[in-house]
Amino acid sequence: MLSNTLAKSCMRSRPLFMASRPMAAFSTGTYDNILVDKKEGGVALVTLNRPKALNALCYALFEDLNDAMMQLDKDPEVRAIVLTGSEKAFAAGADIKEMEPRMYPDTYMTDMLTWWDQLNTLKTPVIGAVNGYALGGGSELAMMCDILLAGEDAKFGQPEVNLGVIPGMGGTQRMVRAIGKSRAMELCLTGDMMGAEEAASRGLVSRVVPVDQLVDEAIKVGAKIAKKSAPSIAMAKECCN
Ligand code: HXC
Repeated sequence: MLSNTLAKSCMRSRPLFMASRPMAAFSTGTYDNILVDKKEGGVALVTLNRPKALNALCYALFEDLNDAMMQLDKDPEVRAIVLTGSEKAFAAGADIKEMEPRMYPDTYMTDMLTWWDQLNTLKTPVIGAVNGYALGGGSELAMMCDILLAGEDAKFGQPEVNLGVIPGMGGTQRMVRAIGKSRAMELCLTGDMMGAEEAASRGLVSRVVPVDQLVDEAIKVGAKIAKKSAPSIAMAKECCN
Protein backbone atom coordinates (compact mmCIF):
# COMPACT_ATOMS: atom_id res chain seq x y z
CA MET A 1 0.00 0.00 0.00
CA LEU A 2 0.89 3.62 -0.37
CA SER A 3 3.26 4.40 2.42
CA ASN A 4 2.90 7.41 4.65
CA THR A 5 6.37 8.51 3.79
CA LEU A 6 6.84 11.04 1.06
CA ALA A 7 6.22 9.70 -2.43
CA LYS A 8 9.19 10.12 -4.73
CA SER A 9 9.11 13.77 -5.57
CA CYS A 10 9.38 15.04 -9.10
CA MET A 11 12.70 15.87 -10.61
CA ARG A 12 11.80 19.55 -10.65
CA SER A 13 9.69 21.45 -8.23
CA ARG A 14 7.22 24.01 -9.48
CA PRO A 15 5.87 27.20 -7.96
CA LEU A 16 2.25 27.06 -6.97
CA PHE A 17 1.25 29.72 -9.48
CA MET A 18 2.69 29.85 -12.96
CA ALA A 19 1.75 31.95 -15.96
CA SER A 20 0.81 30.01 -19.10
CA ARG A 21 3.74 29.36 -21.36
CA PRO A 22 3.41 30.45 -24.99
CA MET A 23 3.28 27.58 -27.50
CA ALA A 24 6.42 28.84 -29.27
CA ALA A 25 8.46 28.22 -26.13
CA PHE A 26 8.13 24.43 -26.29
CA SER A 27 11.58 22.99 -25.97
CA THR A 28 13.04 20.03 -27.79
CA GLY A 29 15.19 17.18 -26.63
CA THR A 30 15.16 14.98 -23.58
CA TYR A 31 12.94 15.08 -20.53
CA ASP A 32 13.36 14.20 -16.86
CA ASN A 33 10.11 12.28 -16.40
CA ILE A 34 9.27 10.76 -19.78
CA LEU A 35 11.08 9.03 -22.63
CA VAL A 36 10.38 9.91 -26.25
CA ASP A 37 11.45 7.61 -29.05
CA LYS A 38 10.63 8.26 -32.68
CA LYS A 39 10.31 4.88 -34.37
CA GLU A 40 10.44 4.08 -38.06
CA GLY A 41 7.12 4.03 -39.81
CA GLY A 42 5.74 7.29 -38.42
CA VAL A 43 5.14 6.19 -34.82
CA ALA A 44 6.46 7.96 -31.72
CA LEU A 45 6.66 6.06 -28.44
CA VAL A 46 6.18 8.15 -25.30
CA THR A 47 6.92 6.34 -22.02
CA LEU A 48 6.03 7.76 -18.62
CA ASN A 49 9.24 7.31 -16.66
CA ARG A 50 8.86 7.80 -12.90
CA PRO A 51 8.84 4.12 -12.05
CA LYS A 52 9.70 4.52 -8.35
CA ALA A 53 6.52 6.55 -7.85
CA LEU A 54 4.50 4.30 -10.17
CA ASN A 55 4.46 7.13 -12.71
CA ALA A 56 2.41 9.38 -10.45
CA LEU A 57 1.47 12.41 -12.50
CA CYS A 58 3.36 15.18 -10.79
CA TYR A 59 3.50 18.70 -12.16
CA ALA A 60 6.89 18.27 -13.84
CA LEU A 61 5.90 14.98 -15.47
CA PHE A 62 2.78 16.54 -16.87
CA GLU A 63 4.73 19.51 -18.15
CA ASP A 64 7.13 17.14 -19.91
CA LEU A 65 4.27 15.10 -21.32
CA ASN A 66 2.40 18.10 -22.62
CA ASP A 67 5.52 19.59 -24.17
CA ALA A 68 6.41 16.33 -25.93
CA MET A 69 2.89 15.63 -27.16
CA MET A 70 2.49 19.15 -28.56
CA GLN A 71 5.78 18.87 -30.40
CA LEU A 72 5.07 15.42 -31.75
CA ASP A 73 1.68 16.62 -32.93
CA LYS A 74 3.40 19.26 -35.05
CA ASP A 75 6.03 16.86 -36.42
CA PRO A 76 5.09 15.80 -39.95
CA GLU A 77 7.09 12.58 -39.55
CA VAL A 78 4.90 11.47 -36.65
CA ARG A 79 1.54 10.06 -37.68
CA ALA A 80 0.64 8.15 -34.52
CA ILE A 81 1.73 8.30 -30.89
CA VAL A 82 1.90 5.36 -28.48
CA LEU A 83 1.65 6.35 -24.82
CA THR A 84 2.72 3.82 -22.21
CA GLY A 85 4.14 3.45 -18.69
CA SER A 86 6.02 0.66 -16.96
CA GLU A 87 4.99 -2.97 -16.55
CA LYS A 88 3.85 -2.24 -12.98
CA ALA A 89 2.01 0.99 -13.66
CA PHE A 90 0.76 3.03 -16.56
CA ALA A 91 0.22 5.73 -13.90
CA ALA A 92 -1.03 5.44 -10.31
CA GLY A 93 -2.78 8.80 -10.47
CA ALA A 94 -2.01 12.38 -9.66
CA ASP A 95 0.95 12.74 -7.31
CA ILE A 96 -0.76 12.51 -3.94
CA LYS A 97 2.04 14.15 -1.99
CA GLU A 98 2.15 17.07 -4.39
CA MET A 99 -1.63 17.32 -4.38
CA GLU A 100 -2.10 17.08 -0.63
CA PRO A 101 -1.35 20.69 0.42
CA ARG A 102 -3.22 22.21 -2.49
CA MET A 103 -6.78 23.42 -2.59
CA TYR A 104 -8.57 23.29 -5.94
CA PRO A 105 -8.12 27.04 -6.62
CA ASP A 106 -4.36 26.55 -6.26
CA THR A 107 -4.35 23.90 -8.96
CA TYR A 108 -6.71 25.96 -11.08
CA MET A 109 -4.19 28.79 -11.14
CA THR A 110 -1.35 26.59 -12.42
CA ASP A 111 -0.92 25.31 -15.96
CA MET A 112 -1.91 21.78 -14.97
CA LEU A 113 -5.53 21.95 -16.10
CA THR A 114 -4.51 23.75 -19.31
CA TRP A 115 -2.10 20.93 -20.09
CA TRP A 116 -4.80 18.30 -19.63
CA ASP A 117 -7.10 20.29 -21.93
CA GLN A 118 -4.37 20.67 -24.53
CA LEU A 119 -4.01 16.91 -24.81
CA ASN A 120 -7.57 16.90 -26.11
CA THR A 121 -6.54 19.12 -29.02
CA LEU A 122 -4.00 16.73 -30.58
CA LYS A 123 -4.70 15.87 -34.21
CA THR A 124 -2.37 12.87 -34.12
CA PRO A 125 -4.04 9.69 -32.89
CA VAL A 126 -2.81 8.45 -29.52
CA ILE A 127 -2.76 4.74 -28.71
CA GLY A 128 -2.59 4.01 -25.00
CA ALA A 129 -0.76 0.84 -23.97
CA VAL A 130 -1.69 0.14 -20.35
CA ASN A 131 0.21 -2.35 -18.21
CA GLY A 132 -0.38 -2.49 -14.47
CA TYR A 133 -2.14 0.25 -12.57
CA ALA A 134 -4.09 2.99 -14.33
CA LEU A 135 -5.66 4.71 -11.35
CA GLY A 136 -7.19 8.12 -10.74
CA GLY A 137 -5.55 10.61 -13.08
CA GLY A 138 -3.73 7.64 -14.66
CA SER A 139 -7.04 6.09 -15.64
CA GLU A 140 -8.22 9.48 -16.87
CA LEU A 141 -5.08 9.92 -18.95
CA ALA A 142 -5.57 6.44 -20.42
CA MET A 143 -9.17 7.21 -21.28
CA MET A 144 -8.05 10.36 -23.12
CA CYS A 145 -6.19 8.14 -25.58
CA ASP A 146 -8.01 7.39 -28.83
CA ILE A 147 -7.40 3.64 -28.79
CA LEU A 148 -6.55 1.66 -25.66
CA LEU A 149 -4.80 -1.70 -25.49
CA ALA A 150 -4.37 -3.40 -22.12
CA GLY A 151 -1.78 -5.83 -20.85
CA GLU A 152 -3.21 -8.91 -19.14
CA ASP A 153 -2.53 -7.49 -15.67
CA ALA A 154 -3.86 -3.98 -16.28
CA LYS A 155 -6.06 -2.55 -13.53
CA PHE A 156 -8.25 0.47 -14.03
CA GLY A 157 -9.84 2.42 -11.20
CA GLN A 158 -10.93 5.80 -9.88
CA PRO A 159 -9.89 5.56 -6.21
CA GLU A 160 -10.09 9.32 -5.61
CA VAL A 161 -13.03 8.74 -3.28
CA ASN A 162 -10.62 7.02 -0.88
CA LEU A 163 -8.79 10.34 -0.59
CA GLY A 164 -11.92 12.42 -0.19
CA VAL A 165 -11.76 13.91 -3.70
CA ILE A 166 -13.38 13.04 -7.03
CA PRO A 167 -11.97 12.16 -10.45
CA GLY A 168 -11.08 15.67 -11.54
CA MET A 169 -10.06 15.32 -15.16
CA GLY A 170 -13.08 13.88 -16.90
CA GLY A 171 -12.97 10.39 -15.42
CA THR A 172 -16.58 10.50 -14.31
CA GLN A 173 -17.81 11.35 -17.81
CA ARG A 174 -15.37 9.25 -19.80
CA MET A 175 -15.87 6.16 -17.65
CA VAL A 176 -19.66 6.45 -17.88
CA ARG A 177 -19.50 6.82 -21.68
CA ALA A 178 -17.08 3.93 -22.04
CA ILE A 179 -18.64 1.28 -19.81
CA GLY A 180 -22.10 2.55 -18.85
CA LYS A 181 -23.36 4.42 -15.83
CA SER A 182 -23.92 1.64 -13.33
CA ARG A 183 -20.49 -0.01 -13.44
CA ALA A 184 -18.76 3.37 -13.86
CA MET A 185 -20.49 4.66 -10.75
CA GLU A 186 -19.66 1.49 -8.87
CA LEU A 187 -15.97 2.12 -9.65
CA CYS A 188 -16.11 5.86 -8.88
CA LEU A 189 -18.07 5.46 -5.65
CA THR A 190 -16.31 2.42 -4.21
CA GLY A 191 -12.78 3.01 -5.50
CA ASP A 192 -12.63 -0.62 -6.65
CA MET A 193 -10.41 -1.64 -9.56
CA MET A 194 -11.40 -3.36 -12.80
CA GLY A 195 -9.14 -5.90 -14.49
CA ALA A 196 -8.09 -6.04 -18.13
CA GLU A 197 -10.52 -8.74 -19.27
CA GLU A 198 -13.47 -6.90 -17.81
CA ALA A 199 -12.20 -3.63 -19.30
CA ALA A 200 -12.16 -5.32 -22.71
CA SER A 201 -15.54 -6.97 -22.31
CA ARG A 202 -17.10 -3.63 -21.35
CA GLY A 203 -15.42 -1.73 -24.21
CA LEU A 204 -13.03 0.42 -22.22
CA VAL A 205 -10.10 -1.11 -24.12
CA SER A 206 -9.93 -2.61 -27.62
CA ARG A 207 -8.32 -5.82 -26.50
CA VAL A 208 -6.02 -7.55 -24.03
CA VAL A 209 -2.46 -8.37 -25.06
CA PRO A 210 0.29 -10.32 -23.22
CA VAL A 211 2.28 -7.91 -21.06
CA ASP A 212 5.56 -8.32 -22.92
CA GLN A 213 3.93 -7.82 -26.33
CA LEU A 214 1.77 -4.84 -25.45
CA VAL A 215 3.98 -1.98 -26.59
CA ASP A 216 4.98 -3.73 -29.83
CA GLU A 217 1.34 -4.41 -30.57
CA ALA A 218 0.42 -0.78 -29.95
CA ILE A 219 3.25 0.32 -32.25
CA LYS A 220 1.89 -2.02 -34.93
CA VAL A 221 -1.52 -0.38 -34.64
CA GLY A 222 0.16 3.02 -34.88
CA ALA A 223 2.16 1.97 -37.95
CA LYS A 224 -1.01 0.82 -39.67
CA ILE A 225 -2.67 4.17 -38.98
CA ALA A 226 0.48 6.02 -40.06
CA LYS A 227 0.07 4.69 -43.61
CA LYS A 228 -3.35 6.34 -44.06
CA SER A 229 -4.13 9.90 -45.10
CA ALA A 230 -3.17 12.20 -42.22
CA PRO A 231 -6.08 14.63 -42.76
CA SER A 232 -8.57 11.74 -42.92
CA ILE A 233 -7.18 10.29 -39.72
CA ALA A 234 -7.27 13.66 -37.95
CA MET A 235 -10.86 14.29 -39.06
CA ALA A 236 -12.02 10.80 -38.16
CA LYS A 237 -10.41 11.20 -34.76
CA GLU A 238 -12.10 14.52 -34.18
CA CYS A 239 -15.50 13.18 -35.20
CA CYS A 240 -15.22 10.05 -33.02
CA ASN A 241 -14.27 12.17 -30.04
C1 HXC B 1 2.45 9.63 -5.32
C2 HXC B 1 2.61 7.34 -5.34
C3 HXC B 1 1.31 7.24 -5.88
C4 HXC B 1 0.60 8.46 -6.14
C5 HXC B 1 2.12 5.26 -5.63
N1 HXC B 1 3.05 6.09 -5.21
N2 HXC B 1 1.03 5.93 -6.05
N3 HXC B 1 3.16 8.53 -5.07
N4 HXC B 1 1.22 9.62 -5.82
N5 HXC B 1 -0.61 8.48 -6.69
C6 HXC B 1 4.39 5.75 -4.68
C7 HXC B 1 4.33 5.26 -3.24
O1 HXC B 1 4.33 6.33 -2.33
C8 HXC B 1 5.59 4.44 -3.16
O2 HXC B 1 6.68 5.32 -2.99
C9 HXC B 1 5.73 3.85 -4.55
O3 HXC B 1 4.93 4.67 -5.42
C10 HXC B 1 5.22 2.43 -4.64
O4 HXC B 1 3.89 2.42 -4.16
P1 HXC B 1 3.38 1.31 -3.12
O5 HXC B 1 2.13 1.82 -2.55
O6 HXC B 1 4.46 0.92 -2.17
O7 HXC B 1 3.12 0.06 -4.11
P2 HXC B 1 2.04 -1.10 -3.94
O8 HXC B 1 1.98 -1.58 -2.54
O9 HXC B 1 2.35 -2.08 -5.00
O10 HXC B 1 0.61 -0.41 -4.24
C11 HXC B 1 0.38 0.10 -5.52
C12 HXC B 1 -0.90 0.99 -5.48
C13 HXC B 1 -0.75 2.08 -4.39
C14 HXC B 1 -2.14 0.12 -5.19
C15 HXC B 1 -1.06 1.60 -6.87
O11 HXC B 1 0.52 2.72 -4.55
C16 HXC B 1 -1.82 3.11 -4.38
O12 HXC B 1 -2.94 2.88 -3.93
N6 HXC B 1 -1.47 4.31 -4.88
C17 HXC B 1 -2.40 5.45 -4.86
C18 HXC B 1 -3.40 5.34 -5.97
C19 HXC B 1 -4.40 6.50 -5.94
O13 HXC B 1 -5.00 6.78 -4.92
N7 HXC B 1 -4.50 7.18 -7.06
C20 HXC B 1 -5.38 8.37 -7.19
C21 HXC B 1 -4.62 9.62 -6.83
S1 HXC B 1 -5.71 11.00 -6.86
P3 HXC B 1 7.75 5.10 -1.75
O14 HXC B 1 8.62 6.31 -1.84
O15 HXC B 1 6.97 4.99 -0.51
O16 HXC B 1 8.45 3.82 -2.14
C22 HXC B 1 -5.86 11.41 -8.50
C23 HXC B 1 -6.70 12.64 -8.77
C24 HXC B 1 -6.65 13.00 -10.22
O17 HXC B 1 -5.36 10.78 -9.35
C25 HXC B 1 -7.10 14.40 -10.43
C26 HXC B 1 -6.68 14.91 -11.79
C27 HXC B 1 -5.24 15.30 -11.92
